[in-house]
Amino acid sequence: MNEKRVLVDRLNRKINYLRISITDRCNLRCIYCLPPEGERKLKRKEILRYEELLRIVRIGIKLGINKIRLTGGEPLVRKGVQEFIPMLTALKGLHDVSLTTNGVYLKDNLEMLKAAGIKRINVSLDSLKRSNFKSITRSDYFNEVREGIEKARDMGFYPIKINIVTMKGINDNEVLDFGRLAIEEPYYIRFIECMPISLESSSLAFISNSEIEKALIDTFGPLIPVVRGQNDGPAKRYRLDGGKGEIGFISAISDSFCQDCNRLRLTANGMILPCLLSNIEVDIKDPLRRGCLDEELIEVFLKAVDLKPKCHAMNLDSHQRVYRKMCSIGG
Ligand code: 5AD
Ligand code: SF4
Repeated sequence: MNEKRVLVDRLNRKINYLRISITDRCNLRCIYCLPPEGERKLKRKEILRYEELLRIVRIGIKLGINKIRLTGGEPLVRKGVQEFIPMLTALKGLHDVSLTTNGVYLKDNLEMLKAAGIKRINVSLDSLKRSNFKSITRSDYFNEVREGIEKARDMGFYPIKINIVTMKGINDNEVLDFGRLAIEEPYYIRFIECMPISLESSSLAFISNSEIEKALIDTFGPLIPVVRGQNDGPAKRYRLDGGKGEIGFISAISDSFCQDCNRLRLTANGMILPCLLSNIEVDIKDPLRRGCLDEELIEVFLKAVDLKPKCHAMNLDSHQRVYRKMCSIGG
């Protein structure tokens, strides 16, 4: 190989961001994600080992990946993650490694995360009330999650994003409380439209971000746009007057943002997904375990990028069902 290869797709979107789901397991059972009994779990040998993940990331870096997010399931439940994260962040060529977590084990991992150089953390927190948190996650870890978020703030993690999947009749009555939180605390509150990815989520009543936006404006006044950063994701960002934090809207359903998509996803069982909302998968585990050369892994990345769809069709009635569960993709 002599020419410099980079990940640019047919639509000229440059791919520099890899989201890695390191486990499909989770200690919560959020109503929009999993049934109460959970899902079939991957067997240990089906899951990419840490050294395999590091090899894949090294190849990604050669191709221009410089931003990584670890997701799950719940990444902090995987054994050995405390040793893996520092190895990952030590790789040359990554300038942003971040974590999405449900926050249950956050408090006890913050020292490790800080020492490893992680600054950006996303925490899923769909309710500010313990009882409602309990109905949404079917578990009683509200206090642990709040303590984790507060300790992260005190330790200087920034930004701390709080993800809320909004559901009509379930937590839409808390929108203003989240607005208040964005005023009083430096958190980035992000309202995420519920995507009908699993049977669980498809049975929930949808509420669009425009309704939420309106409720916030009616109470707190105008939303002040924040200038987008170069590496921003799909969120539309705003501040509230006098607020310490931010409000963001991720509107996968009502407002497609695919034209700016810069990401690939790697599942715990070694499939590269060019798009969250399509069923296209490219197997990287098989060549890896056959002992292939780096060149073959490069080809897998290039193929995944080549197959990246123009746009998802979630907002159309006829959209195709996504077969994977969110807990195996990691949002
Ligand atoms: N729709 C929207 N967001 C979802 N997440 C999980 N399932 C869904 C869904 N059906 C979000 C979680 C978490 C992120 C990883 O993905 O809230 O913040
Ligand atoms: Fe776990 Fe996240 Fe799914 Fe909730 S949404 S069950 S925290 S993987």
